[in-house]
Amino acid sequence: MKLEGKVALVTGSARGIGRAVVDKLAAEGVRLVINDVDPQPAEEAASELRGGGTEVAVCAGDVTATDFADRFISTAIDSFGGVDLIINNAGYTWDGVIQKMSDEQFDAMLEVHLKAPFRILRAAAGPLREAARREAAEGRIVRRKVVNVSSVAGIWGNAGQVNYATAKAGITGMTKTLAREWGRYQVNVNAVAFGLIGTRMTQGVGPEGARMEIGGRALPAGIPQSARQAIESQIPFGRAGTPEEAAGAVYLFCIPESDYVSGQVLLVTGGQ
Ligand SMILES: NC(=O)c1ccc[n+]([C@@H]2O[C@H](COP(=O)([O-])OP(=O)(O)OC[C@H]3O[C@@H](n4cnc5c(N)ncnc54)[C@H](O)[C@@H]3O)[C@@H](O)[C@H]2O)c1
Repeated sequence: MKLEGKVALVTGSARGIGRAVVDKLAAEGVRLVINDVDPQPAEEAASELRGGGTEVAVCAGDVTATDFADRFISTAIDSFGGVDLIINNAGYTWDGVIQKMSDEQFDAMLEVHLKAPFRILRAAAGPLREAARREAAEGRIVRRKVVNVSSVAGIWGNAGQVNYATAKAGITGMTKTLAREWGRYQVNVNAVAFGLIGTRMTQGVGPEGARMEIGGRALPAGIPQSARQAIESQIPFGRAGTPEEAAGAVYLFCIPESDYVSGQVLLVTGGQ
């Protein structure tokens, strides 16, 4: 157990990649603060994890709420006494070509994929600095890790996703900047940019489509079956990644073997 006793905060961890991340970290002995905008699956995930012996606190709610970041960090400190790993994962897509995209649609992606991680990391800055100072005074170094979840849309661009791609590209700037600001606090800041991973977000849907509700809006979920097949045909491995494979890449940035790696964006694409 490489991460035994560490405290991890993972947004959007009731399903999909976030859920696979908390399962992976739990198996390594990590104590967890899980979050999701949907409280019921978050509670279900928590009770399953507790059943397996993991200590779990739930901080349900929308990461874009202005009071969320303070609540999230406080939950970790009040429940477990600190913060070791922060995984900014929560998100969704709301696609459209630019000429049909409203300001609301553009802003929604910046809020969830960029501003929410910014607020969470800003709220964590004080506790991370204090912990590093205290440990330095004791002659100890304890490494802490941030992993921001990005997308190849933010690296390569993606037609129909100017809002999402812009926000995910911003994650690169945030990651590289905080890697510089927080080196002195012994905090590694990296990002993973996923290609196609098989989750609710990318499920193949028929002509009738599928819907999901986020922030009081009913939005299309998934991508047309034909588009999904076209994307898969471009992937050298010939298939989407699984949430567990995605979680494996997040895990690489959490373990001690990556202690000297910071400011990096790892493409997780099945070789694409
Ligand atoms: N699936 C992919 O192919 C893919 C590719 C690149 C990047 N990503 C990124 O991975 C992350 C996870 O996506 P996923 O594929 O697991 O999708 P998912 O829909 O399966 O899971 C996302 C989770 O985040 C939650 N969530 C969404 N908005 C939230 C909010 N405002 N506050 C709190 N929770 C919220 C959802 O309820 C859901 O449980 C996202 O940031 C996404 O952009 C996914």
